[in-house]
Amino acid sequence: MELIKAQRGTQDMLPSQAGKWQAVESVMRSEAEISGFREIRTPVFEDTRLFQRSVGETTDVVQKEMYTFEDKGGRSITLKPEGTAGAVRAYLEHGLFNEPMPVKVYYITPCYRYERAQAGRLREFHQFGVEMFGSALPVADAGLIAFAHSLFERLCVKNLTLKINSIGCPSCRKQYAEALKAYFTQNKDRLCETCLSRLDRNPMRILDCKSPECAEVAKDAPHILGYLCDDCRSHFEEVKDLLDSIGIEYEVDPTIVRGLDYYTRTVFEFVSNDLGAQSTVCGGGRYDGLVEEMGGAKTPALGFALGIERLLLVMEAQKVQFPEEEPCELYIASIGNAARKKAFQLVQRLRECAVEAACDEMDRSLNAQMKYAGKIGAKFTLVLGDDELASGKGVIKNMKTGEKKDIDLNDNFEEQFAAISSEAEDFGDLKF
Ligand code: HAM
Repeated sequence: MELIKAQRGTQDMLPSQAGKWQAVESVMRSEAEISGFREIRTPVFEDTRLFQRSVGETTDVVQKEMYTFEDKGGRSITLKPEGTAGAVRAYLEHGLFNEPMPVKVYYITPCYRYERAQAGRLREFHQFGVEMFGSALPVADAGLIAFAHSLFERLCVKNLTLKINSIGCPSCRKQYAEALKAYFTQNKDRLCETCLSRLDRNPMRILDCKSPECAEVAKDAPHILGYLCDDCRSHFEEVKDLLDSIGIEYEVDPTIVRGLDYYTRTVFEFVSNDLGAQSTVCGGGRYDGLVEEMGGAKTPALGFALGIERLLLVMEAQKVQFPEEEPCELYIASIGNAARKKAFQLVQRLRECAVEAACDEMDRSLNAQMKYAGKIGAKFTLVLGDDELASGKGVIKNMKTGEKKDIDLNDNFEEQFAAISSEAEDFGDLKF
């Protein structure tokens, strides 16, 4: 029979990679919490209009990449292509604006984009993201960038370039849009069909079109920085000054406009020099108009998200050492049914004390059980047979040193094992 394979652009996270995912996720959670962000989980699917309104009708994401379908009730549903829209919806729907400002949330979520799959560009991928509502101050922008910066440091990721830009506010952008429109109109015959339709509605979107022809035209387009109003310019100056004051290096890159419509003022990306085409590991910025556009009060806000798969690609390319997986502490081999029952009972007692222990679940011979214990890297072994059952005594063997220690099988087994184990002090959660 034909084996059904995973869908193009999706990846299985296999047990052999679980340690890496858990390690990076735990650093993300702890860094987020240190900076005052609390977790939010929003559904994987939402009303399609949520993304059309927030991400924007003329973006690549909405025009080309959304997983949209009609559900059995005839509603148009979309799998989330990013995390910000759902977080903003939840912020409004549950009145999080009543909490002390700024409201700071973080999430780890799968996202879905129907893109041409390649290394680092998937149709299902995972984002770690943070969103912060309520602050218009440059300290919030610089603080958020500093947060991402220190997260990468804690993850031992090197060789990232931080690129920042300001894309202004709707008022300075009006003039800029005119200038862009004039420029792209002159080069109309080189634009793709989607970009032709963007010319009148949102010429800034042409700047991040993925078609190579459009990208070539976009190279010589006017830059937003020349069009910033006084307020936006001084906001950007202050963000840069704050970054300078804590020694965070950055490049001002006026070509960064981001692919989503909701951004205002500061935008930034962390770009890796160790990835191929898909080199942006993290992106974000301010979106001061979005909450109001979604039906809330005028609320400045900002955030960023990083792609976990891309992050792991960079970490693997840089050979970052991940924490070793904890091996099995004790494997209890057994000969015969009565001994297997005893092994089963002892294993349960150890597991109650949070000690990783295992016994035969495959009806293997003693020889095969010991081989298995070696394969799973058991630190200690104990063999139970009729003699051990009769005497109530066994021998714990240290698999690394060969050292043997007697153990009483009936009296305080867990405490004796903890004392024997050279790692006894690592049993953080043991409750004896
Ligand atoms: P974004 O730049 O579209 O921003 O995505 C953020 C990150 O998600 C990217 O830098 C990349 O690492 C990862 N990513 C995006 N698409 C893919 C893909 N097809 N395959 C693998 N990884 C991908 C946002 O989504 C905004 N919501 C970020 C934000 C939060 N802005 C403010 N708050």
